Amino acid sequence: MNNVLVITSNPEPASLTAAVGEALAAGARAAGAHAEVIDLHRIGFSPVYTAVDRNHYLGRAPMPGDVVPIQNRLAGADAIVLVFPVYWYTMPAMMKGFFDRVICRDFAYDAATGNPLALAGKTVRVIMLTGGSQQWYESDGIDAALRNQICAQTFKKYCGVNDVDLVYVDNVTMGGNDCDQRAAAALQLERIKSLGVTLA
Ligand SMILES: Cc1cc2nc3c(=O)[nH]c(=O)nc-3n(C[C@H](O)[C@H](O)[C@H](O)COP(=O)(O)O)c2cc1C
Repeated sequence: MNNVLVITSNPEPASLTAAVGEALAAGARAAGAHAEVIDLHRIGFSPVYTAVDRNHYLGRAPMPGDVVPIQNRLAGADAIVLVFPVYWYTMPAMMKGFFDRVICRDFAYDAATGNPLALAGKTVRVIMLTGGSQQWYESDGIDAALRNQICAQTFKKYCGVNDVDLVYVDNVTMGGNDCDQRAAAALQLERIKSLGVTLA
């Protein structure tokens, strides 16, 4: 049975971001996988890179204690799905801190050799909720920049994750709750649930 781990970042528990994470997990479970969701806000994750993280990076201190349980859950997953709203064409600070502090040296890659470690060979999907349309991201080079930064450089080159892709939930209005917006969101949630099925 595949283990699917979903990591979400949104301060609002009832956000579309949270619903997307739950839809992905529901699809994976329906297809027989074990799926769990970690909401970074709900667990009180601290995204700030401090001297403790820096000392670990420099080999002067052990792995910061608060990131170890999250790393263990990542290491035990076959598929990892990150879900976040796009803020200023990139990930929110909470998710960036997850990359900085959790996907770190001597977990994701070996400090001495640079070789990938715990995430190598896994499947990763990065689901971005965007106010703009996917078409606009693709036509204006934003999609290419994000694919290079997140997929090619971070996950493929450093982490040894070759099966990585960006997925859009686009044209999203924060808090949008009228009839048309709910119908459009429901369609997108069905698409994400189907993606969960394929990861199971
Ligand atoms: C600080 C901030 C910056 C944003 N920047 C962008 C952006 O660069 N591109 C974009 O498409 N949408 C942008 N948005 C819109 C959000 O991506 C959109 O409202 C979000 O996906 C809503 O998801 P939620 O309802 O789950 O919070 C921004 C929103 C905020 C609050």
